[in-house]
Amino acid sequence: MAWQGLIQQYRAHIPLAAAAPVITLNEGNTPLIRADRLAEQIAPGTGLQLYLKYEGLNPTGSFKDRGMTVAISQAAYEGAKTVICASTGNTAASAAAYAARAGLRCIVLVPEGKIALGKLAACLAYGAEVISIEGSFDDGLRLVRGISQSYPIALVNSVNPWRLEGQKTGAFEICDQLGGRAPDWHCLPVGNAGNISAYWLGYKEYSRGWPRLLGGQAEGAAPIVRGRVIEKPETIATAIRIGNPARWQQAVAALDESDGLITDVSDEQILSSWKQLASLEGVFVEPASATGVAALQKEIALGHLDPTGKTIVCVLTGHGLKDPDTAIKMATLPRSIPATMEALIGVVSE
Ligand code: F0G
Repeated sequence: MAWQGLIQQYRAHIPLAAAAPVITLNEGNTPLIRADRLAEQIAPGTGLQLYLKYEGLNPTGSFKDRGMTVAISQAAYEGAKTVICASTGNTAASAAAYAARAGLRCIVLVPEGKIALGKLAACLAYGAEVISIEGSFDDGLRLVRGISQSYPIALVNSVNPWRLEGQKTGAFEICDQLGGRAPDWHCLPVGNAGNISAYWLGYKEYSRGWPRLLGGQAEGAAPIVRGRVIEKPETIATAIRIGNPARWQQAVAALDESDGLITDVSDEQILSSWKQLASLEGVFVEPASATGVAALQKEIALGHLDPTGKTIVCVLTGHGLKDPDTAIKMATLPRSIPATMEALIGVVSE
């Protein structure tokens, strides 16, 4: 049967009531792409089998749709009329889309000036009420947590357990796509730490084996790596510009249980992996999404992770078109020539 979204596919694993409506955009079922050219750059001659789980191909361009289909279905079932979230952009765009589909009012709080253009454009198009706050994501999360306690407004950040119920299906898909087994390592960016927590739930529940988790944080926004709250997080990877992750403890527990690692990478390392993904593999992601790959490169180089003969999956969390500004800033801009054959021949024969 044609794919009808992850609730339909994995209903037995998702504790939604039978009578709950299914608000879906047919999310999930994203490709697991073999990345041999990148593997050869990262770990030449080791037989590393590297795969990219391309979550940017979800309906609103990020992995957030996995959690949002479940969270919005549950909110609609509970009779919510309004949903709210704080967001660095992707959660907001996803909430806005699913809320539109469910006929709910959607309010999103974003950090002023720190949301990538594609995310803002999407939120506005879906008709969300976008509120720019003079503060960080962490400030926004504090506000929405507070308001949802005293007003009849459903909170759809990943502190909402229904989000994780949807996001854990990424682990199911990876196991299925690898022929019924978990990878040796699972690498991903860590921001508010919902996704790493959800993947670990998923792997445990599906019982096809357990990978070791490798989390990557941006150097200027690495509270878990440093073991302390970062008051003013900064990174070019705005999606993970977070100083006090809500699921911090759960992420640490997942890392411990999986015998995993968490490490920080500089903006330069993130952008270098981001560039490699596009230019070696044809996979265009937003900068934050390259953080898992950058973390993998760093840990291999430091000798903390032996890639020999290993199957390693990197989750690429968001599409490259989310952040066109960074892509343009990083690029050599197109050259301009007269519209003549002569000029074109001049260029191609250089
Ligand atoms: N990658 C992207 C592209 C993200 O948008 C996020 C989080 C993450 C990774 C990190 O995932 O928070 O579960 O650890 N974005 C949130 C948002 C914070 O508001 O869109 P996490």
